[in-house]
Amino acid sequence: MEKFYIETYGCQMNEADSEYMASLLHTIGYERVYDIKDASIILVNTCSIRDKAEKKVLSFLGRAYPYKRKNDCILAVCGCVAQQEGENLIKKAPYLDIVFGPHHINYLPNFIKRARNNEKVVEVTERNVIERDKDLFTTEGIRAMIPIMQGCNNFCSFCIVPYVRGREVSRKPEDVIEEVKRLADYGIQEVMLLGQNVNSYGKDLAVKEGFVKLIEEISKIKKIERIRFTTSHPKDITEGLINSFATIEKLMPHIHLPVQSGSDRVLNLMNRKYSREDYLRIVKKLRQLRPDISITTDIIVGFPSETEDDFEDTLTLVKEVRYDSAFSFKYSKRPYTKASTMEDQIPEEIKQRRLEILQNLLKEIIYEKNKEMEGRIVPVLVESRSKKEKTEFMGRTPCFRIVNFSSNREIKEGETVKVKITRGFKNSLKGEFING
Ligand code: 5AD
Ligand code: SF4
Repeated sequence: MEKFYIETYGCQMNEADSEYMASLLHTIGYERVYDIKDASIILVNTCSIRDKAEKKVLSFLGRAYPYKRKNDCILAVCGCVAQQEGENLIKKAPYLDIVFGPHHINYLPNFIKRARNNEKVVEVTERNVIERDKDLFTTEGIRAMIPIMQGCNNFCSFCIVPYVRGREVSRKPEDVIEEVKRLADYGIQEVMLLGQNVNSYGKDLAVKEGFVKLIEEISKIKKIERIRFTTSHPKDITEGLINSFATIEKLMPHIHLPVQSGSDRVLNLMNRKYSREDYLRIVKKLRQLRPDISITTDIIVGFPSETEDDFEDTLTLVKEVRYDSAFSFKYSKRPYTKASTMEDQIPEEIKQRRLEILQNLLKEIIYEKNKEMEGRIVPVLVESRSKKEKTEFMGRTPCFRIVNFSSNREIKEGETVKVKITRGFKNSLKGEFING
C-alpha cells in the first residue's frame, strides 16, 4: 500500500491545501505517515512569499533524496515555488517526479499514477477555476479550514502572490455552504474561511457584499458555533463587514488586518491603497462596535527606501493600535515584483536591527494584553488535551488566544466551557474551568 508524507510550508491556504490532498489520497486507500522514512510518496507543499521559504524547500529535497533512492519513493513538489519554477525545479533536482502548482491539487492521484509509469509530471498552467470535491472531509479536530477564494488582484509591490496564485477566483456561495453543512453534520464547530484576500470574496461573482452574505448564511447553520476568516486587506473592509462583527453573534471577535507599514510614503510605494489614517479609522470603528475584538497584523521592515522616520511611523502605529499578535518580516526581494527593481534597497544589518526593535515592542504589547485578560471569564472551545500537561486541556478564546486550563472533570473535544483566566503569558493564557 502507498504511504504518503506531506511537508507544508507557508500560509494557512497551504495548510488547507495539504489537508485537502491528504483527504484525496486517503479516499483512494493511501495511508498518511508522519515520518519520511516510512513513506512511498513524499510531497512538499511550498511557499515563495519570502526567500527563506524557498531555501527551506531545496534543503528539504536534499534530505528527502536518500529516501527516494532507498525506498523507490515518488517525490513531488507543489505550491507556489512549484508554480514559480516549473520545469526549472526538475533541472535543479532531476530526481523529482512531480511538480504542480496550486491550481492542480485536485489531480494529485492522477499525477502519482503517471509518475509510477515513469513519466515526469510538470503541471503549472494557471487556471481560473477552483475545483474541489465537496464530499471530502478535509479536517481533523473541531476546526475546518475552508478556502473560499484564491488568488489576488492587488499587486502590492513587494508581493509575489499575484504571480504564482493568479487572479482572484471565488467559489460559488452555494458550494461553500453545502461544504460547511456537511462538515457541521460531521461534527465541526468552527470554520475558518480562507483566501489571500478573503474580504474581496464575491467581487468576481458580481455579488454586492457577497462576503457578508456568505458569513450570514453560514451563521444560520445550526451546529456551526464559531466563524472566522483570514486574511483581510484594509482597503476592502466595507462598512457592512465591520457591522457584521456587531450583528453576527457567531462571527468571532478577531480580525487579521495586515498593515505592512505605518508610513504613508511607504504604504504608497507598496501600492497598498490606504493611508495610515484610513487604517486607524477602521481599527477605531471595529473597536467601537466590538470592544473585545482582537486585532492582529503583518508588518514588513526595510522596504526599499524606508528611512528611520518611516520606521518610526511604524513603531508609533503599533503603539497606537496595540496589536494582540503580529507577524513581522524583513523585506525580501521577490522575482517579478516592482519593489525588487526599486533603488535604495536597505542593507541587511539595518533590516535586522529594525526587526529586532519592532519585535521587542510587539512582544511587550502582546504580553501586556495577555496580562489584561487575567481575572476574566471567557468561553473556551476545547480542542484537545494540553500538549505539555496531560492533566490540562487546550482551547481557544473567541479572540483566538490559546488557553491551557485545569479542570476537575473530564472535558471533551468540541465542548465550549467557561474558563477563568488566571495568568497571561507571552503567547498563551492559563486558566481554570468554572462550573456552570
Ligand atoms: N518580503 C517580506 N515580507 C513579505 N510578505 C509578503 N511579501 C513579502 C516580501 N517580499 C509578508 C506580508 C504579507 C505576509 C503574508 O507576508 O506582510 O502580509
Ligand atoms: Fe500579496 Fe498584497 Fe495580494 Fe496580500 S493583498 S497576497 S500582500 S499582493
